[in-house]
Amino acid sequence: MTKWFERFDRSERPHHKHIASLIAQGLASGELQPGDKLPTHRALADELNVTVGTVTRGYAEAEKRGLIVARTGSGTFARSSETEHDAEFGIPPESEAPGAINFALSYCIPAYREQALAESLQSLAQDPKALHDAVSYQPQFGLERHRRILTEWFEHWGQKLDPEETLITLGGLHSVHIALQALVRPGDTVASASLTYPGIIAATRQQGLRHCALEMDAEGIRPDSFEALCHQQCPQVLYCTPNQNNPTTACMGYERRQALLRIAARHGVWILEDDIHLVSADERPPNLVEMDPERVLYISGCSKVMAGGLRVGVLRGPASLMGRLGDSLRSHCWMAPPLNAEIACRWISSGRANELMRWQRGEIGHRQALAANILANYTYQAQPYGFNLWLHLPEPWRPNEFVAACEREGVLIRSGEPFAVGRSPVPPAVRLCLSAEAHRETVEKGLRTVESLLKEQPPAAPNTI
Ligand SMILES: Cc1ncc(COP(=O)(O)O)c(C=O)c1O
Repeated sequence: MTKWFERFDRSERPHHKHIASLIAQGLASGELQPGDKLPTHRALADELNVTVGTVTRGYAEAEKRGLIVARTGSGTFARSSETEHDAEFGIPPESEAPGAINFALSYCIPAYREQALAESLQSLAQDPKALHDAVSYQPQFGLERHRRILTEWFEHWGQKLDPEETLITLGGLHSVHIALQALVRPGDTVASASLTYPGIIAATRQQGLRHCALEMDAEGIRPDSFEALCHQQCPQVLYCTPNQNNPTTACMGYERRQALLRIAARHGVWILEDDIHLVSADERPPNLVEMDPERVLYISGCSKVMAGGLRVGVLRGPASLMGRLGDSLRSHCWMAPPLNAEIACRWISSGRANELMRWQRGEIGHRQALAANILANYTYQAQPYGFNLWLHLPEPWRPNEFVAACEREGVLIRSGEPFAVGRSPVPPAVRLCLSAEAHRETVEKGLRTVESLLKEQPPAAPNTI
């Protein structure tokens, strides 16, 4: 059989692009199979009678197109048929946690961002007014133009927000801090689900607040538990993630939302609603902020849908709280950097943000389908749009033992421990995040490792008396 490089034609120029095209053709024709090792740079240079530098540039071009992967110390390998699509979205060639499959961190799929950033920086460099705004102090709420573009985009995805009631922050976690600082004083009480986003646990600790855990069921926070707490402890704030609990993925139905709002209204409790994943309107009941805008502060942002590194969040509060929220933000950082918001707004205005959001949602759907297939014999909870799944461990696995066993096999996952408020019990389950890895094949490999461990017995416990 002809080898892919034997079709090298010296008259095709530039040579490095020609080499990349030959690799693409080799993959398309099946001469090159995913995982095949490519010749070393020196060996191919000798074979084609070109310089080593030409081959290096050829491989770099092929890697940029997502056709091959270079692994330090082991060589260069052909990638799978997903690669053309991956290349289109600029997926980086290697895992962010070298050597391990990362199911531990809730990142958006690491694809496409660098390209979108480069484009927006180039267009920004041609826009003197925007450059001036980006280097100047601005009002603490953020530039009016940025708030308008961001809120219009949120509306496009189903969450109507008034720009006058919206602040630009440094991300979801910053919004949590700003809101708490505006609403509570040290010693006050915040309530949340017993398993919740670790950022709120850290924030309440840091601000010297009491954090009370509410019991949960398949829809998240149980209203009877919230009602009982309101009678006993008079919490000032209820923090919740109605569309997707972290880590259990529980989503509240409409009636559950109504019940919690009714209790909060009866006892005068503010609600901090965290929708950082920006779940679109067709995938959920109405958000709490739509049902009771005077009581609910709403958090979302660009971290899980554009890029975590942009640090662009939004915090929406009722008009009556805007002064306090603005003061709180100003005392933290004066204002969120307008440059970050400018970039996010350029992604939105150019259509990149929507493209990315649609692609990510489609890819998450594929990954959830993969999990449904591989973990078909096990019980877990997940949302079709969600990054995570909450896997119930079969007897006799204990969560920390299973986390350690997965790590030994090169897969990083989380038990419920970091999500537990105070000394709330941790159920025998683990969280797998399917979005932190760039490639679907890596996710598949990790899921297969997890599945094969589930079938095994944990290592024997050391004898003790
Ligand atoms: C529920 C929830 N809220 C907020 C955040 C933090 O968002 P950001 O990175 O924008 O601070 C996370 C991050 O994983 C999260 O899971």
